[in-house]
Amino acid sequence: ASPGSGAVQQVLLAEPRGFCAGVEMAIKALAWMVRAFPTPVYCYHEIVHNKLVVRRFEDQGVIFVDDISEVPVGSPIMLSAHGSAPEVVEAARARGSYVVDSVCPLVTKVHHEVKVRAGKGFRIVYVGHNGHEEAVGTMAVAPDAIDRVESVDEVDALPDTDQPVALLAQTTLSHRDWEGVAVRVKERFPEVWTPGRSDLCFATTNRQAAIEQLAHRCDAIVVIGSANSSNTVALEKLARAEGCEVVHRVNSAAELPAGLSGVVGVTAGASAPEELVEEVIERLAPSQGVELLVVTDEDEYFPPPRNIRELQAAIE
Ligand code: F3S
Repeated sequence: ASPGSGAVQQVLLAEPRGFCAGVEMAIKALAWMVRAFPTPVYCYHEIVHNKLVVRRFEDQGVIFVDDISEVPVGSPIMLSAHGSAPEVVEAARARGSYVVDSVCPLVTKVHHEVKVRAGKGFRIVYVGHNGHEEAVGTMAVAPDAIDRVESVDEVDALPDTDQPVALLAQTTLSHRDWEGVAVRVKERFPEVWTPGRSDLCFATTNRQAAIEQLAHRCDAIVVIGSANSSNTVALEKLARAEGCEVVHRVNSAAELPAGLSGVVGVTAGASAPEELVEEVIERLAPSQGVELLVVTDEDEYFPPPRNIRELQAAIE
């Protein structure tokens, strides 16, 4: 059997899934930049971690760079949703004609926590993925005060300290991984300071809550999203950890494997457009249709960055 052959009985579709408020905001902001300026418009890092989104913007004249020095002086620059290091923001302002930072406000919150805790003399244990753009940007806020960890072993290897310790995190971690590491940090540093509200964002939390339920009801799960998307990979991992044996992460319907059957759960990471979900469902062609698995109603909205609002006002 192959997807589309009728072997798939039903699709259980996670709700919420796909675009979060931060991604929506960043994509709209870049679309406004493209409207407001002659191209090319430059974007530091992929605006969000999704190939289709990036390719569409490239087709419209956006050039993505991983180093601000690649941007010709005097060009419009957008900074990605993952949050940039303070020196990158500064370099962009020095070089660009007009600079918009589309950092998600929930990443800004973590940058702020880093700044405040470092300023108060804390050692910061930051749970985040090595090399991920959000982690790189966040650690750059106070590089001398931060130790990055992502496993219990790495917590055990941290040096002892007389300083007070704070525990912060990348917004898109797997809750399971985060909890395991956080417990060990609290064992090692019982007085550890943690923010009143977890750094793991609502979108990460909601999509993971949905996939936990899917994993118990499905023969197979399809997670739509890119390999460099942290929250997408966390969904894939969590589905497996919850005991679902057939889990596939795909960039698009074309990557669906043959032989899926029974009840198939479908979800999408926070940077994956809904049209990819529609294509996947069409390809799976469930004989008994689609059932929504709703865990919560997600109605967060982030307004565009202030200077984008100024641009909008100038154009309209
Ligand atoms: Fe922001 Fe969370 Fe989305 S940090 S960009 S709301 S995945």
